[in-house]
Amino acid sequence: MKLRKILDSDDKFLLRLLTDSEVRKYLGGEVPFNEAKRRVEALIKQKPANYWVIEVKGSPIGTVVFGEHIDSGEVELSYQLLPEYVGQGLAFKAVQEALRNNGSSLVVAETQAKNFKSRKLLERLGFQEIKKLERFGEVQVYCKLRTKKKHHSRSP
Ligand SMILES: CC(C)(COP(=O)(O)OP(=O)(O)OC[C@H]1O[C@@H](n2cnc3c(N)ncnc32)[C@H](O)[C@@H]1OP(=O)(O)O)[C@@H](O)C(=O)NCCC(=O)NCCS
Repeated sequence: MKLRKILDSDDKFLLRLLTDSEVRKYLGGEVPFNEAKRRVEALIKQKPANYWVIEVKGSPIGTVVFGEHIDSGEVELSYQLLPEYVGQGLAFKAVQEALRNNGSSLVVAETQAKNFKSRKLLERLGFQEIKKLERFGEVQVYCKLRTKKKHHSRSP
């Protein structure tokens, strides 16, 4: 497993993530094809620095993204795997590596209460449930992870 930035050749993979009913089950459902295509084109064009692609044996199989929380603007973690790669500990490994690469000392996550796989992953990563709230007509769990700050001590 390795993390890398978006490549031009990721178009089909990204399109599948947005239009797969299993991936989108707790993410508001499948994105309509034309809208998904538009989003993929924008992603490929921008190749955002906060967007990691998980690669296994040379193929893209998932993503780890550090976005901006809708309410607070805090750094918000999100992740998605193609269904055939779920249940192998790959999301856990990928997020741990992405967190190591990420400079921010506070990361939050929000996931549907019904999304037990996602909640289990957050718990294993050390996220703490702070509150439940309602958004997009669903109960969401808002969690926080405090990562250790790197101290750069000056020599006396
Ligand atoms: C949320 C999601 C990433 C979780 O994926 P996952 O594969 O369950 O997560 P992990 O990497 O933590 O793997 C844990 C599972 O792998 C199993 N596993 C197998 N080998 C393992 C290993 N070497 N190390 C750790 N876990 C391993 C664990 O037992 C566990 O399986 P279980 O749930 O049946 O007990 C995935 O379900 C997904 O992509 N969902 C769709 C998108 C989504 O809803 N994203 C969340 C919104 S932010």
